[in-house]
Amino acid sequence: MIKSLFLFFLFVWMFGIQVVKAQKEHLIAVETENLGLYLHAEAQKELKQLYFGKKLRESTQLLQALELSEPAYPAFGNGLDVEQALQVVHADGNPTTRLVYQSHSVEKTENLIHTKLELKDEFYPLFVSIHYQAYSKEDVIETWVELKNGENAAIRISKLTSGYLNIQAAQYFLTHFYGSWSWEMNVVEEQLLEGTKVIDQKQITRSQRDNPAFMLSLGKSTEKAGEVIAGALAWSGSFRMAFQIDNYNKGIIAVGLNTISSEYLLDAQKTLLSPKFILTFSSHGKGEASRNLHRWARRHHLPPMPPKGLPIVLNNWEGTGMDFDEATILRIIDDAADLGTEIFVLDDGWFGRKYQRNKDDLALGDWMVNKTKLPKGLKPFITRCKQKGIKFGIWIEPEMVNSKSEFAEQHPDWIIRSKNREPLAAIGRGATQQIVDLANPKVQDFVFSVADNLLTAYPEIAYIKWDCNHYATDFGSTYLTGDRQQNLWIDYVNGYYKVMGRLREKYPHVIWQACSSGGGRLDYGALDYSHEVWTSDNTDAWSRVFIQWGSNMIYPAIVSGAHISASPNQATGNVTPIKMRMDVAMSGRLGVELQPAHMTTEEKARVKQAISDYKNILRPLVQFGDLYRMDSPYEKPYASLMYVDEQKSKAALFVYVLTYTPNDVSTGRNVPILRMEGLDPLKKYRIEELNVSEKLSSPSVGKVFSGDYLMKVGIQYSKTKLNESSIFYISEI
Ligand code: DGJ
Repeated sequence: MIKSLFLFFLFVWMFGIQVVKAQKEHLIAVETENLGLYLHAEAQKELKQLYFGKKLRESTQLLQALELSEPAYPAFGNGLDVEQALQVVHADGNPTTRLVYQSHSVEKTENLIHTKLELKDEFYPLFVSIHYQAYSKEDVIETWVELKNGENAAIRISKLTSGYLNIQAAQYFLTHFYGSWSWEMNVVEEQLLEGTKVIDQKQITRSQRDNPAFMLSLGKSTEKAGEVIAGALAWSGSFRMAFQIDNYNKGIIAVGLNTISSEYLLDAQKTLLSPKFILTFSSHGKGEASRNLHRWARRHHLPPMPPKGLPIVLNNWEGTGMDFDEATILRIIDDAADLGTEIFVLDDGWFGRKYQRNKDDLALGDWMVNKTKLPKGLKPFITRCKQKGIKFGIWIEPEMVNSKSEFAEQHPDWIIRSKNREPLAAIGRGATQQIVDLANPKVQDFVFSVADNLLTAYPEIAYIKWDCNHYATDFGSTYLTGDRQQNLWIDYVNGYYKVMGRLREKYPHVIWQACSSGGGRLDYGALDYSHEVWTSDNTDAWSRVFIQWGSNMIYPAIVSGAHISASPNQATGNVTPIKMRMDVAMSGRLGVELQPAHMTTEEKARVKQAISDYKNILRPLVQFGDLYRMDSPYEKPYASLMYVDEQKSKAALFVYVLTYTPNDVSTGRNVPILRMEGLDPLKKYRIEELNVSEKLSSPSVGKVFSGDYLMKVGIQYSKTKLNESSIFYISEI
């Protein structure tokens, strides 16, 4: 006994965990360098939030104004008619919960402070642990909740939020991101008035309709000024973000799972974890809020990246579709290497036995090489890639099946299907696509084995594009019992994470792309396991300026797959010069997506040069630098943005003309001025231009200016025509 007590205290001392008993009242401060969330905890009382926002100098003063406090994590049953954080129907049918504080612990490591609060229902053995993980330097707090059912029968969770905040401002402006397939991440900002605004999604697999992220400005904000809360839920399924403004103009933010169609039945003695909610606060506008999230993601969240950044991909999808043979692919590999790309990715259409994948309505589920199309299998491609000094990657979509597949014939019970109903697959791609039941551990093993078998047979595979094209139109699992059918929404996503976790652990060297029809899994849940996403199936440069603008408000550019594709564009029909196509793709994770055999010699030469500049100059800036948005495509006829390295010694400035701007270049009147950002005012910088076509884009190219000058005066921009664009390289001398 004495020995175990000694070991306990030794452990606590060694790992810096401070466990605080609930004897008296506590002021609990969750702080980063600039952000503070302050809570008031008192034994057997409801946990209160005292303040959230800019870090306080003397937080103890909050204890003199306890009357201003608000419930920090209110459960339905606490008597207040507000947006609740939690609702549980207990085993005996009681729908009310009253959570009271028990104890808390604080664990400190260098840049990280983990505060864990233990709450319990005042009567029922329902235990709620709220976690706050504060990343000091990045000004980010991650928060999540763990729910333990200590009752002797199952309880029903009818609401579970990951993060709950009380806020106070004179005015609120909500920025959120919406879209559809091929037109993702539109940015919209609206003022919130009295009432509750809900942004949600009810999907199981993927959705482009609303992204689980937002920015909330307390009063008006711009890119550079104003107070902004930015948040994102790390979850690839059904979510709900509620913003309630009450009649006193007080605000509540509640972000978590959407339980509208998915109340969760939690068995006795079992625990349910909420997804993580990632939160930052900026006093310097939306730009800083984005940079905080990006830095946190790159340093603490995304899978470890190759030191020089993510490789340049050549993907054959838009070039060939499923219409290829061995010779076509071998030739593309030669061209991919010649252009300077670093990985060739073989897309959809390589598999199927009884049913061959030459069309999109069959064979998903049958992950064996189509020997009619590729008699020698994948080996010749891997060998050719090796000879050419590039890597090989492959596309799979293991969560999906077509009803015309050997898989569907053999395992009908492994497919999600509404009981007693015909499948509604007709709504989805190929009209026959269905989803496998990832709530079922056996199906998880199958999905794992799809990638595992490939990586075992071909250990050279260095990149996997993991697609997921169908959203659920049918709901029903033969694995889950009748009373647990609604658990599918949460169990499916956790099943997907389990599979990805196993694969990442077994194959740490492989790069994973969460494709999901483009943008369908652009969330920090999928990005816990995947290095990057496919930003959109819309590769049109003009459209991508908007799509990437919205995506990169929350997610860093390193995760945004951005490919140079053919013109006219296959999605929009837009005809775009190769320069604009290159300039837009180079502001993300660069790739190429076309049939190189269809390129002109001049296009090839230009893309080759662009790829070489990306490798040598731009990749470190775009993939690891800080993003500064200057001119918004939503406000101006042109867009401009910069990436600056940590030392502020190098920067890249991208400009895109989106509407003809009738400027009088000869007199200099009305010419756009590009005022830079993020530079060191005391340093001197030379301006150069990359991807130059015909004439230079500014009279300032080749000249040297101070950072102070470039940020206050700026440089003149002389391009005015639709789809003209420029990349400037700014380097310290
Ligand atoms: C949807 C993806 O977004 C595309 O890039 C491509 O991989 C197709 N699926 C293939 O079916």
